[in-house]
Amino acid sequence: MGAGLLVSVDPEAISGSNTQGLTLDQVAYFGKCLVEITPENLEPNLAFLRQNFSKLAIYFDVRKLKSWDSVIDVLNNGASKIFVTFEQLKVLSQEQTISPDRLILTISLVNPQTDLTKLKAFLEGNPKWKTTEWAFDGGKGNEHLDEVLKDVGNYPPSQDQTIYVRVTSESEGTSVLHEYPGNALIISSKALTFTPPKEDEKLIPAVELVLAGATPDRKTGLYATVVVDERDVALGLVWSSKESIAEALKTGTGVYQSRKRGLWHKGASSGDTQELISIGFDCDKDCLIFRVHQKGRGFCHLGTMSCWGRTSGLSRLQRTLQERKVDAPAGSYTARLFNDPKLVNAKIKEEADELCEAATKEEIASEAADLLYFALTRCIAADVTLEDIERNLDLKNLKVKRRKGDAKPQYVEEKPVQDESKQATSNGIAGQQDEEVKEAVSIPKQPSDPAGKTESGRIQLKRYSTSQAFSDDVLKSALQRPSQKSNEKIMSLVHPIIADVRSNGDAAVLKYTHKFEKATSLKSPVLKAPFPDSLMQLPEETIKAINTSYDNILKFHSAQKPTSDLVVETMPGVTCSRFSRPIEKVGLYIPGGTAVLPSTALMLGVPAMAAGCKNIVLASPPRSDGTITPEIVYIAHKVGAEAIVLAGGAQAVAAMAYGTQSITKVDKILGPGNQFVTAAKMIVSNDTSAAVSIDMPAGPSEVLVIADKTADPAFVASDLLSQAEHGTDSQVVLIAIDLSQDELQAIEDELHKQAHELPRVDIVRGAIEHSVTISVPDLEEALKWSNYYAPEHLILQISNPRSVLPLVQNAGSVFIGGWTPESVGDYSAGVNHSLPTYGYARQYSGVNLGSFMKNITSSEVSEQGVGQVGYAVVELARCEGLDAHKRAMELRMEKLGLMEKKQS
Ligand SMILES: *[C@@H]1O[C@H](CO)[C@@H](O)[C@H](O)[C@H]1NC(C)=O
Ligand SMILES: *[C@@H]1O[C@H](CO)[C@@H](O)[C@H](O)[C@H]1NC(C)=O
Ligand SMILES: *[C@@H]1O[C@H](CO)[C@@H](O)[C@H](O)[C@H]1NC(C)=O
Ligand SMILES: *[C@@H]1O[C@H](CO)[C@@H](O)[C@H](O)[C@H]1NC(C)=O
Ligand SMILES: *[C@@H]1O[C@H](CO)[C@@H](O)[C@H](O)[C@H]1NC(C)=O
Repeated sequence: MGAGLLVSVDPEAISGSNTQGLTLDQVAYFGKCLVEITPENLEPNLAFLRQNFSKLAIYFDVRKLKSWDSVIDVLNNGASKIFVTFEQLKVLSQEQTISPDRLILTISLVNPQTDLTKLKAFLEGNPKWKTTEWAFDGGKGNEHLDEVLKDVGNYPPSQDQTIYVRVTSESEGTSVLHEYPGNALIISSKALTFTPPKEDEKLIPAVELVLAGATPDRKTGLYATVVVDERDVALGLVWSSKESIAEALKTGTGVYQSRKRGLWHKGASSGDTQELISIGFDCDKDCLIFRVHQKGRGFCHLGTMSCWGRTSGLSRLQRTLQERKVDAPAGSYTARLFNDPKLVNAKIKEEADELCEAATKEEIASEAADLLYFALTRCIAADVTLEDIERNLDLKNLKVKRRKGDAKPQYVEEKPVQDESKQATSNGIAGQQDEEVKEAVSIPKQPSDPAGKTESGRIQLKRYSTSQAFSDDVLKSALQRPSQKSNEKIMSLVHPIIADVRSNGDAAVLKYTHKFEKATSLKSPVLKAPFPDSLMQLPEETIKAINTSYDNILKFHSAQKPTSDLVVETMPGVTCSRFSRPIEKVGLYIPGGTAVLPSTALMLGVPAMAAGCKNIVLASPPRSDGTITPEIVYIAHKVGAEAIVLAGGAQAVAAMAYGTQSITKVDKILGPGNQFVTAAKMIVSNDTSAAVSIDMPAGPSEVLVIADKTADPAFVASDLLSQAEHGTDSQVVLIAIDLSQDELQAIEDELHKQAHELPRVDIVRGAIEHSVTISVPDLEEALKWSNYYAPEHLILQISNPRSVLPLVQNAGSVFIGGWTPESVGDYSAGVNHSLPTYGYARQYSGVNLGSFMKNITSSEVSEQGVGQVGYAVVELARCEGLDAHKRAMELRMEKLGLMEKKQS
């Protein structure tokens, strides 16, 4: 729409206490208004903005604001555009998230004068700002506009550049528009009227300024007028005259000029009246636009909404629903929906689900239509209209991200969160190739969740403190892990794969590997020991590193072997004992995909070997040439694995769970994997006919660092980041004991700096979004929250860290002191890194020797023992009514003469 008239309103007009000029409701007919905002009236004006921005576009003159936060607040609360000084423009133009068309460069020709020399220099360096919107706060200087424009090198202004000029009289307005036809006039609401001014009033009839510079039809002298509804759907084409426009403004209704009958009050005879919303011109000011709320049957004399026939689509649906809400035929489905909110909600969820499932274009369109139908029903029931929704969309679009100038522009674009459900349905199960370390079935928390969000774009943990007004509940919700996605859908994709592998064995496994891993040359799904040297060619230093880690892990895990059996005589002659045996056959899943994970192979393979498992089978998805990374083959060789299953995902799990022609069926499956692996493990462990167990559920990786004043900020930051780089669903928590603002800041600065030096900065950013810092006064409080959280990894960067171990109640693995980064445990110290996540550290241990073993117990009763314990057995068996149990003991007691023989 043409720039037209911009009416400035002052506080009296806003509060409705003005005694002359236009009211705010009347100003709204021009579709926009201008308000000056100062530090003093910021709050009431923001309130006004929030409450009225949906009614009309509100421009703010923010030149008197000193704080950047206030300026951004004005933009974020819904201001359409702001008038800024060129000093402000210089800073705001660095903020690339602010669209240039929301900034109006204001050149002041009154005190204090804009320094034109500086402005000119700025424009030379930043030519883009030459053609954006400008405003002249000219006062008496308007006659010098040309000179100013020439002075700064912008003469004549480009055709589509709007220049706002403040005027005080009709003649001034006309002369400005004569110079620059596309321009907009700024005029005070106090100077305008909708009624013919009385003689002693110096008011200007608004219609005069509305029409200034407009082009009427040459033959009739009338203005072509398009009538549209709230959503800009065209209702009809009519004509207007100065008189009809003045009447429309005065009455706030649709009034036009009929070529036959003169002034035409729409609906006067039919009753289908219109409420005026706003008027304006098109781009070259030869066509008026009347935006109205049409009542009754519609605009067209034929009784339809529009002269172009029935309206369709969302507008029609909205209208139908609105009518039905008032007057739904009893028993109709819509009536039922309006009366049963639970039904609507259930339908919305059902349709949303179906939309997610839809695959073809037609299906998606059809399911989206169903979803919109129910969503709109929900809205109309609550008196929310499409217009409200669209305004809301627009407002969200107006939000500005705060940036303090320390984040580089290329980091501002956030990486979109990967939508796994979409991937799973549109590519079938192909999503399973995207494996990440410990990738889990999870989605980030709600976008509304404040944790980790910094509008500045800085990579920073969200701060909380126990000493401030944060309640325990707030802290607990801050410590929530990113929520796990319901995996029904994944389950439904995984079930058929498992069934296929179960009945078709090797052929099915091979088929999926060809499909998902693209390893089409592969002929066999398994690589059997002895593995050829050619498949484990590695650089000397890698071998050495693997050897070192292998030796340490073996040493530590061998030491966990029980040295002797447990034997206890519970009563004289009653001996109980316990002894362990390795689980005979184990299957170890090593994820492939984006990361090479020799460490996982070590952490699973070495304990299995130390435990004495007879058959160790590894499974890992091959590369597209059909080979496995040599590190994994070398480790398989070192731990004495009998075979490597060349498959990933659900098919690998199924192959190991049920066995195939060439793959050994195992008793237990361990190892991390993506959501398909996790789902497959759950399914096979639940199938009693598979007789296979699994390790604990794997969730996203996490670390909690407790730091006090002695901690090195760089170490703390690096430990937080080493977890954050695992995946966007990872979470890191810092518990700061009695740190000052400066000390906290030092850690945050390090985190931000180190994060940007990482190649996986995008993943880090995602993880940090749902990560937090909690400040606590002392160690006890720190441990209280750490134990509550039950982290997978707990790092103690505090003085005297070992003395704190007795207080550690829940954690997967503890890293003691500043010199112990989590990565040492991940790779080489000797402890395992397959640890309980997602709070399971409350009840589970990480993988350890025991994971590959089971305990067997035995009992042995002597003759003496029968006398000691027999009566207890007999009595309890009697209580439970299990006579055969009772008899088994009684017979022995009788034989020993400890009981009278039963009469038969
Ligand atoms: C506009 O803002 C004023 C002042 O905040 C408020 O009283 C009024 O209700 C608002 N008008 C509308 C239509 O929201
Ligand atoms: C690695 O360990 C093997 C024994 O398992 C040994 O033969 C080999 O020399 C070692 N290599 C290096 C580089 O340490
Ligand atoms: C486990 O099996 C039971 C009974 O067959 C079934 O109801 C349940 O849904 C299964 N759970 C999973 C995770 O497959
Ligand atoms: C593995 O980690 C858990 C948790 O830290 C620990 O209990 C267990 O002893 C570890 N086992 C080995 C062999 O490192
Ligand atoms: C098995 O026995 C060993 C000691 O022999 C013990 O440390 C371990 O916790 C036991 N495991 C289970 C699962 O009970």
